Order: sequence, then C-alpha cells, then structure tokens
Amino acid sequence: MIQWDKQQQTITLTTRESSYQMKVDHLGVLLHTYYGPRLRGGDLSYRICPEDRGFSPNPYDAGKDRTYSLDTQPQEYSSSGLGDFRLPCLEADLADGSHAVDLRYVRHSIADGKYALEGLPAFYGDGITAQTLTVELRDAASGLTVELLYGVLEEYDMITRSVVVKNGGNQPLTLTRVASACLDFPAGEHDLLTLGGAYAREREPVRAALTQGIHTAGSIRGASSHQQNPFLALLNRDTTEDTGFCWAMALVYSGNFQASAELTQFHETRLTLGIHPFHFAWTLQPGEAFTAPEAAMVFSARGLGHMSRLFHRAIRRNLCRGPWKEERRPILINNWEATLFDFTAEKIRSIAQTASQVGIELMVMDDGWFGQRNDDFRGLGDWNVNEEKLPGGLRPLAESIQAMGMKFGLWVEPEMVNEDSDLYRAHPDWALQIPGRPATRGRYQLVLDLTRPEVREYVWKNLRATLRSAPISYVKWDMNRSLTDVWSHSLPAARQGEVYHRYVLGVYEILENLHREFPDLLLEGCSGGGGRFDCGMLYYAPQIWLSDNTDAIDRLKIQYGSSLLYPCAAMGAHVSAVPNGLTHRSVPLHTRAVVAAAGTFGYELDLNELTAVEREEVAQQVAHFRTVWDLVMKGDYYRLTDAFSDTFTAWMHVSEDRSRALVSAVLTERQANPVRALLRLKGLDPHRDYLMNGKVYGGDQLMYAGVPLPFWDEYQAVQYELTAVAP
Ligand code: GLA
Repeated sequence: MIQWDKQQQTITLTTRESSYQMKVDHLGVLLHTYYGPRLRGGDLSYRICPEDRGFSPNPYDAGKDRTYSLDTQPQEYSSSGLGDFRLPCLEADLADGSHAVDLRYVRHSIADGKYALEGLPAFYGDGITAQTLTVELRDAASGLTVELLYGVLEEYDMITRSVVVKNGGNQPLTLTRVASACLDFPAGEHDLLTLGGAYAREREPVRAALTQGIHTAGSIRGASSHQQNPFLALLNRDTTEDTGFCWAMALVYSGNFQASAELTQFHETRLTLGIHPFHFAWTLQPGEAFTAPEAAMVFSARGLGHMSRLFHRAIRRNLCRGPWKEERRPILINNWEATLFDFTAEKIRSIAQTASQVGIELMVMDDGWFGQRNDDFRGLGDWNVNEEKLPGGLRPLAESIQAMGMKFGLWVEPEMVNEDSDLYRAHPDWALQIPGRPATRGRYQLVLDLTRPEVREYVWKNLRATLRSAPISYVKWDMNRSLTDVWSHSLPAARQGEVYHRYVLGVYEILENLHREFPDLLLEGCSGGGGRFDCGMLYYAPQIWLSDNTDAIDRLKIQYGSSLLYPCAAMGAHVSAVPNGLTHRSVPLHTRAVVAAAGTFGYELDLNELTAVEREEVAQQVAHFRTVWDLVMKGDYYRLTDAFSDTFTAWMHVSEDRSRALVSAVLTERQANPVRALLRLKGLDPHRDYLMNGKVYGGDQLMYAGVPLPFWDEYQAVQYELTAVAP
C-alpha cells in the first residue's frame, strides 16, 4: 500500500509487517523518515532533530537557519557537492566541469502493479499485490532529473528500488556514480552483514560491528564474483537467527557492484548499493536516460531466518521465470568430475545408461564437446561439434539418451574465446583487449566484447543453432574468468567507462533471447561454480551451480552462507565421488546425498565406478528425493545451527501449510566423549502433532523441548521426515 498525505507531505509504503516513509520538506528535499516495523500511521519526521552542527553547511535557501544541513538530514537519494559529505548516490561531470547535483522534489505518482526495467532483470508483480511509486527529483541548474522507482511487494515485506537518471538539460553530461538505493538511519548501533568468500568457498557470512567510517563490499571483476556478493544487511547488535531487526538489500545485477555502509560522526548510518563507480562513466546527451539496476530491500523484525525466507519466496515466485521456477527439476548427472575433457559419445552413453537404471532423468554433457576443446588451452568460441568425440554430432547422442528415457543437456561458455580458436584467428579484435597492450589471460581465455552487436549476434546465432540441432532440454551457461583489459572498439575514448555495464547488458540480451525462443529450456547459471550467483542471473536461470567445491562438508558452509539470501531451489548441488577432488576428503554416500538434496539434486560422477550396493543406494536416494522435492523446492527453509561454529550442521524444510517437514543434520566435528545435542526444530505448528521416526510428538515439544540427536560418527548424516497427524 502506498499513501500520500498531502497535508504532511509524506509518502508511506506499507507491506505486511513493515512501514517505509519519506517526506518532502519545506525546501523540497526528499527526506527519509522511517523504515522498520509496520506502524499505524503519522508523520515520522519528528525523529529528525536539527542541530547547529559546525562544519555542516547550509543550503542557500535555508537562509539563516544553521540547523538545516544536507550533511545531517536523512535523505531518500543523496546528492553531492553541496554540503552532504556522506556517501553520495549520484555523481556527474557536468558540461561546465562542475560536479554538484542538488535534487529537489518535482512530483510523484502511484500506480498498481510493479514497474519493469527495459533490458534489466527485476522482480515482477504477477500474481501478488504490488504497487509502484515514482518520485521525480530535479537539479534545476543542470536540468538533470532523477526518477526514483519503488515497487511494493506486500506479501514478501519487500520494497524494490531503481533509478532513472535523465539529462533534461541542453548540454551532455557524464554520470560517474549512480546508486540504485540509499537507506539512512537516524541513530543506532548496528552490525553489518555481508557475504564474502573465495573460489570454492563462496558466500561466507561476515558480520561485524559497524564503526565510524565507510565499509564496503564490492566487485570490480565484471561479474558479481566469488569473493563478495551483491548483498548487505544492517542488523541490531542483538539480532539473532530468530529474533531482532534486519534491514537487507540485494542488487538484481550480475556485474560490478558496490555495497557500502557509513557510520557518520553522529552515528547515523547510511547504506548505499549500486553499480561500482570503478571505471564507470556514462555519457548522457540531452534527452537521454540511464537506468540503474534494481535493489531489493527486505525488512525483518524476526531475525535473519525470517529475512532469508522472505527473500527465498520472493526470488522463487517473483524473480525466477519460466515453467521450471517451482517445478521439480530433472535429477541430473553431469560428466565433468568423472571425465573432465576426456570423453567420447560412448563414454557419455555408458554414464547415462547406468544413470537411467537408477532413475536419473537428465544427462548433462559438460565442457569438451566442441572445436578442438581437449583441454582448456583451446577451442572456446568454436561452437561446432567435435566429431572425433561425437560422431554424427549432437543429435545421435541426444537421441540415444532420450531412448534411455532421459533428457539431454549441454554445457556452454558463450562469453569467452581462446586465442587458439578459429574464432579468435578470424576476429582477434572481438576479445576485450587494450590497443598496445598484450591481453591478460584467465584460464588461458579472453573475454568476448559483448558490447558489440556483431559479437552478440555471433554468440546468439551459434547458441540457437546448437539448441536447434538436437533435442536439448537443459543448458549450463558458464563464465570462467574475471574481466580485465576492459576496452572496446565499439566506443570512443571518452566513453570507455560504459564498457563494464554494456557488457552485462549484452549478456542479459542474449539470455533474454534464450528465454524467449526456448521457453521450456532449463537454464543453469555457472561461473567457475558460484562466481556469478546473484539475483540478476536468477531472473534468467532458476538454478545456478553453487560451487565447484562438491565436498559435502564444505558444501554445508557454502549452502548455509548462500541461504542467507538465496533459496534452495536456486542452488545447483550434486553428489560427487570420494575422495573429493578439491579437498581429498571422504564423506559417506548417504551424507553426500543428504547435503545435495538441500539443493537441485544431481550427481557428478561415473556410477559405473561404484559398487552394486552403492548403486542400489543411489537408486534409493533418487527415489527418496522424488518424495521430498516439493519441501526442498517450495517449502520454507530453517537454519537450525550455525555451519561455521557448531559441531554439527542442521537445517529443515517445512511445507507452507506446515503439514510436512524434512530435518537434516550432519556431524562435522566429532568430539571425544561428546556432549549430548538437543535439536530444537523450527517452523512447525505448535498446536499440531507430528509423526517422526515412528513416534508422535507435539509440534510444541519438537520446537521448544527439542529432540536428542544420536551419538554418531564424524561426517555422518541423519534425516527425519515429519508428517502432521490428524487431530
Ligand atoms: C567450470 C565449472 C565446472 C565445469 C568446468 C568446465 O569450472 O564450474 O563445473 O563446467 O568449468 O570447464
């Protein structure tokens, strides 16, 4: 619900459990007056207490009022150069060389439904109550206007934001910073939560007390990255998994980003989130506009767990698209860890044949099927089938797999080129490369310049031809290096600061083509595992390979950290062989399946190398997943322990109507003479009884009194299914 109070000049956005308010003040500055638990109403600007603060300058039209300063007023969208010394949202090089932008309210409008963004991913409002607020601000001196967009998705307690900056003047100008959102807090001591990590250790939560200064997380790798994720949350110091306030923001974007939190001299806090200003410079001719990617904000007064569940539901239902978003995905087997590049059609068939016998439904052929791609030195860019490995092309192989009762899927890496490829030999200038400098290699490959229409056309034509050449129902879209040498032949020197963002727009354009022309295709995103795991990609691909690290014990941490924002339905998770290729650890087959079953579930090994007894166990795992998939894909997710500090990791999935649940736990650290763990479940109905392990317990008993876990061995897993019994 969006309400305009003309008398108070306030606009209030209300979701199920939160209120958000802004106010047009006497100078036309758009103040931010409140974000938090839902309130009955009123003008919240009484919380702003103007003071005469030395060295906080006063706008000219404040006259002699020394208590009014942009440096201390909480604002909806902070400007720069005119006395607000905190993090700016907008910076521009104006035609006269000046940088000042002074944003004042012009008008606003309220509409039903959720806005969409041309060429950019965004949450959508289909099937839910959604409204849009548009507020126009203007810098009178330059004519620059800013349209602040707000989408209110009531049932998820989510407010989305975007910004359209227009050059309404008669001179060109260059934007050097455009944040998607800013959030000012008048007071309070907070913790900042971000998601750090590394390749094979993606999304490790980082929580620390916010101290005075600016703290940022970000990526300048051209992709959202393994190292930081486009997400930040401000928490009260006493916020826990199940209690306390969280204000969280995620960027619906897959390129460079910056998430910042500033604690000011007076212990106000300002959060900003948007495209990273590193090498960002976007020129607007008179009349042109720039649209910033969407930021999605969620407020939870019930701790981190509730925050995550709000994001999970919103992402699953109103960000992911296509027929697979809430459907059971085919249980797949992928040959990568089994064969690497060393395979033939016969090998793929033999993996598929055994997989089909245990009930696996999709055979994915990974890297190595095209060009001269027998190792990672060569072949990327040449999307013709390697007939030495696959005689007759993809169709005979795909059809023989179909004849086994399975679907067929394929790996691609469309954004890249090896120097040793026909494509590079024909078009060396199609790779990002700075004239006069040798190119920087990453995994022996260069990045195609997707800012150029002819390069996008080549990529799209090849992808479309490949998908039409055989019955292919799944694609894994990989991206195996960071961007460097960011320079494009397509733009003049003064506009090279547009390349990073235009690259992402190019990726989105091809992904949108794919979505439109192959609507039933199941797309899995990937970037050396989870290097581009973000809300932007989830708009095009409902699942993303979470990490190249398939060690089940390490995965517990990666899945835990990722679950702060992302739903299980989005997490590509496979059972792989032991000892694990990256960690050399051996984990029981049962545990590997319990962990992979908290994601999209599949296998990444050659089942022919297992014993008959193990293959039988796999058949049971596959059959079991079919009975619980809806809990994992559509249920609510509860973290029961902390994967980084507890000696065992436990979680559960609960159906929306709370009639069924699946509890999983893995012992990660065996103690001598161990203490007895009592596991308190969550999310059940305290007034109902549940059948668990052949015994009936009250939902209240399971949640408040807890259940003892067995004494077990390191790396062993237990799993319990719960069903509500009729009263
Ligand atoms: C990346 C992916 C892997 C695999 C390889 C193939 O590392 O994350 O799963 O597809 O590329 O080269």
